[in-house]
Amino acid sequence: MQNSTPSVVILISGRGSNLNALIDHAKQTGAYQICAVISNRPNAAGLALAKTAGLDTAVLDHTEYESREAFDAALADLIDEYQPDWLVLAGFMRVLTEGFVNRYLGRLVNIHPSLLPAFPGLKTHQQALEAGVRVHGVTVHLVTPELDHGPIVDQAMLLVLPGDTPETLAARVLALEHQIYPRALSALASGQIKSVNGRLEGTLTLPLIHAIK
Ligand code: GRF
Repeated sequence: MQNSTPSVVILISGRGSNLNALIDHAKQTGAYQICAVISNRPNAAGLALAKTAGLDTAVLDHTEYESREAFDAALADLIDEYQPDWLVLAGFMRVLTEGFVNRYLGRLVNIHPSLLPAFPGLKTHQQALEAGVRVHGVTVHLVTPELDHGPIVDQAMLLVLPGDTPETLAARVLALEHQIYPRALSALASGQIKSVNGRLEGTLTLPLIHAIK
């Protein structure tokens, strides 16, 4: 019997450029199937991208919930209607409760715009400039209860250039994000990379290096 295509629910909060890259890759390769896109913000631009692609969308406005726990419980109920194999955070700007993370442990994926474990949290490009690093980048990782930690699936890097600002770095890192996220999700969905007892096993091709031309 043939296995069915792995299903994915994607959570967003805003622009949705990573979502767009994930949609394109799904269309091109059929490596995974996106069954829904859920936003915690009603006006997230990514919702329109998802609708244009013919995907199911839903909004769960976190401001309408009394607590983080109540929001996460409602979110989990909505997600579970789709029974996804993978739950993918693509610019989802909410800290998730431990209960929520544990419910999807091993199949909850995030992209973070730094070379973790350096610079968790927000304003990663500014953090990188302040630290004076010469190399910066992006990480795709499985989500664990500790914020921006968890097994690393893949990373891509670039050189920090003289004169870089948080904005110029963000733009170059974002271009890498769009390459790395679909590739990492495909590797997880196909089983090329597997989570075994909280550790990742398997191999990816070499990390992407975006060097000065
Ligand atoms: C990306 O930089 C992602 O790494 C971070 O939030 C941003 C989302 O951008 N977590 P977009 O909505 O995918 O365009």
